[in-house]
Amino acid sequence: MQDFVGKKILLGVCGGVAAYKSAYLIRELTRAGAEVNVVMTQSAKEFVSPLLMQALSGNSTRTDLFDAQAERAMGHIELARWADYLVIAPASANILAKMAQGIADDLLSTLYLVAEVPVMVCPAMNRSMWAHPATQANCKLLRDRGVIFVGPEEGSQACGEQGLGRVSEAEQILSALRLHDVHQILQDKKVLVTAGPTREPLDPVRYISNYSSGKMGYAMAEAAAMAGAQVTLVSGPTSLQTLSGIKRIQVESAQEMLAAVMQEMPEGGIFIGTAAVADYRVESVASEKMKKKNLEEMTLKLVKNPDILSRVVQSGRASCVVGFAAETTDVVHYATEKLQHKQLDMIVANTVGKGLGFDSDMNQVTVITKNKQIELPFNHKTRLAGQIIAIIAATLQNVVP
Ligand code: PMT
Repeated sequence: MQDFVGKKILLGVCGGVAAYKSAYLIRELTRAGAEVNVVMTQSAKEFVSPLLMQALSGNSTRTDLFDAQAERAMGHIELARWADYLVIAPASANILAKMAQGIADDLLSTLYLVAEVPVMVCPAMNRSMWAHPATQANCKLLRDRGVIFVGPEEGSQACGEQGLGRVSEAEQILSALRLHDVHQILQDKKVLVTAGPTREPLDPVRYISNYSSGKMGYAMAEAAAMAGAQVTLVSGPTSLQTLSGIKRIQVESAQEMLAAVMQEMPEGGIFIGTAAVADYRVESVASEKMKKKNLEEMTLKLVKNPDILSRVVQSGRASCVVGFAAETTDVVHYATEKLQHKQLDMIVANTVGKGLGFDSDMNQVTVITKNKQIELPFNHKTRLAGQIIAIIAATLQNVVP
């Protein structure tokens, strides 16, 4: 697909084993029609040769802030003005720290300060470096300032450890760029997404809940935002962060989620119910911690929670209502029943179970509309979210793929 023709990408490459992956990224970007200029940090040069980047991009690789040769041709100001996007992949902990603090001590960090175009970073580092409060604080600051984050991914690391810190694959970075700029398929649309579990209290210290991590819902919210929509995310308790620009409302119980959804649901907006809402809650919540009292058994009376999806449909406020269906067997059959019963425009069916669907980075879904079924292969939740958003946009235009 040559949909990047005319797009100018300034690619920053930082030091780290993942630097070799930039070569694939350049190849994919140029295949898609983009023009790429590469800027490498000094440590990136220790891992891959600037000549390789030059051969792949077809443009001379820039490495020095004070490059007499380059200053005559394209200086750092011109280079930043030339670009439609600054993509930093892989982005080290060091560049993130410099970006957060506004330190401009090499070409790449200077370009970041000069750039007035969207900036996308794809972090890659050891899992402890990523988890360090200093890195997390820097990332939060950058997110708040509008920097787009893609990844990092979970998996085995070059150092032999396992965890979050691998750079995203080229395909995923391209999908993020596509969603953000090339198509802007949901521009001017308002989207409300629910995500995560709900917690139904028993007493001040206990609750009933489920294994939802919020990853699928957050991925849906981010994909919608990258596609140009104005997004509100109503989230149950999770440990996830949100892209800047997404309005996030934190709730605990199903009733709180319903109240937030009804308050926030925009007229004519798109509603995406990804949350794993508890179907039942305890009828009477104890005001003090429940005591064991030597009981061998205990019976809790549960009452049905409101169905948020159905309430949104009944309100008539949404132009499109999308549900998710989590099933352990006969997924498509049960999901289709829910689509019809709840009068939805679309339902995304996923099989859940041990290591499947819930609390995993990966998922496999079937998107079901009133007259179509689209099976999306096993993939990362962020990629699936992009594909689902594309299907929603196509459905709104009556051009279901
Ligand atoms: O959060 P993750 O760990 O990433 O996992 C993702 C997921 C498995 C939770 C997600 O992909 C998913 O399937 N979400 C829906 C889970 C679910 O509750 O399915 P359900 O079949 O019970 O409900 C069907 C639909 O009705 C859902 O859109 C749900 O949000 C909605 N619902 C359910 C009950 C209720 N009281 N109100 C609702 O709105």
